[in-house]
Amino acid sequence: MKRLVIVGTQWGDEGKGKITDYLAQKADVVVRYQGGNNAGHTVKFAGQEYHLHLLPSGILNPKITNVMANGMVINPQAFAEEISRLKAFNLYISDRAHLVFPYHQTLDKAGEKQKQDQQIGTTHKGIGPTYTDKSARIGMRVSTFIHPDRFYHELEKIVKSKNEEFARYELPPVSFEALYETYLPYSKLMKPYVTDTSKLINQLIDENKKVLFEGAQGVMLCLDHGTYPYVTSSSPTAASVPVNTGIAPWLVEGSIGVTKAYSTRVGSGPMPTEIDGNLAQEIRVKGREFGTTTGRPRRIGWLDTVVIRHSKRVSGLSYLAVTLLDILSGLDEIKICTSYTLNGKEIFDIPAEIEDFAQCTPNYVTLQGWQEDITNVQSFAELPEAAQKYLQAIEKYTGIEIAIFSVGPDRTQTITVKDIF
Ligand code: GDP
Ligand code: IMO
Ligand code: MG
Repeated sequence: MKRLVIVGTQWGDEGKGKITDYLAQKADVVVRYQGGNNAGHTVKFAGQEYHLHLLPSGILNPKITNVMANGMVINPQAFAEEISRLKAFNLYISDRAHLVFPYHQTLDKAGEKQKQDQQIGTTHKGIGPTYTDKSARIGMRVSTFIHPDRFYHELEKIVKSKNEEFARYELPPVSFEALYETYLPYSKLMKPYVTDTSKLINQLIDENKKVLFEGAQGVMLCLDHGTYPYVTSSSPTAASVPVNTGIAPWLVEGSIGVTKAYSTRVGSGPMPTEIDGNLAQEIRVKGREFGTTTGRPRRIGWLDTVVIRHSKRVSGLSYLAVTLLDILSGLDEIKICTSYTLNGKEIFDIPAEIEDFAQCTPNYVTLQGWQEDITNVQSFAELPEAAQKYLQAIEKYTGIEIAIFSVGPDRTQTITVKDIF
């Protein structure tokens, strides 16, 4: 495959950054297609760890063309901060991407506060309010932002209406002049990177370049196919790539579903296989399961293949990349959820109603664990038999072949089982 999508199959933080960076060694182009700096993608190589929020995970390789596509929402301040830490890079930003301003963040927090015990547990990065403005046709695109006069007039109009919204939350008004003055330098900083990225990506495809499309979040956080309303405000699915980048659907050749060897979730909402107590804490500490963006402890659960099969159907997943397998070393038993019970009936799909999903109890198969340290393993054959059986069980219950597995955070701790890109 020459054009491959990297999709999170669970609730985000599956290791998409790591897998993107790994596959990027063979790519020409990496495109981030949705979300904003709610994402936190970790890349580790040569003893260095990088946390990327807006920039595509190909950015650490200066030979790669990196694209922030039209489906993204970009916080200019966060962008400035992120590029300030890098040396050489080759980056393009879509003129049609939308911008996140501080009032979006304020409204994100205020909206959450108003929900009291029904909070989504957002990252407070203003993502929901920015996509809301985009849908309501009152957002600001990058193309306007980089034009000082248009930016001035557009912002003046928007701030007026935002201040009316602020008043409803009893929040103090925003000063338009101060906001303009602060953000004008960011617009100048961004301008040299801005282009029609749909045109660029299509040109690169015409030149037969190898392209990775890097998703943020995970399918269970998809606005359409996730555990609504406990979701983000964009679609991480492979199916959303054409709209979010401006390419024809048939140009996407396949996708690799990045799957953590167990489940994690940050924020609220049901998670049928959630576990707590000592075991959860042990996995949390060993897997360093604390949010890359917010530092929040991640909730822990067993691998849920109902979730992965759902992701396969709604997103399309050609292969899996199973990550963090090393974290399960040392357990006596490992469970895999294969179906749920709801109202006394066995079900194999995720119900649409969140109240029903919250009542689903998991049905498990239990596998034997392994005690060996697997962090230096370089092939499937070197894995202990129980770990091999665990991977085979994942293939069996998801119906998807594993192309890659990963046994540590470093680029070198990644094993290709099947060469697909
Ligand atoms: P992303 O949002 O999907 O890119 O994932 P994050 O970077 O937020 O979270 C994944 C975490 O797991 C990061 O700290 C990675 O460095 C780490 N990681 C990725 N793959 C492995 C692995 O195979 N083993 C271990 N121990 N850590 C991994
Ligand atoms: P990466 O790309 C994990 C979660 C938030 C919250 C919900 C909505 O690193 O996998 P938002 O701020 O998007 O409105 O929050 O989505 N969330 C993520 N969880 N990884 C992410 O990104 C996430 N991005 C958003 O915790 O539950
Ligand atoms: Mg993350």
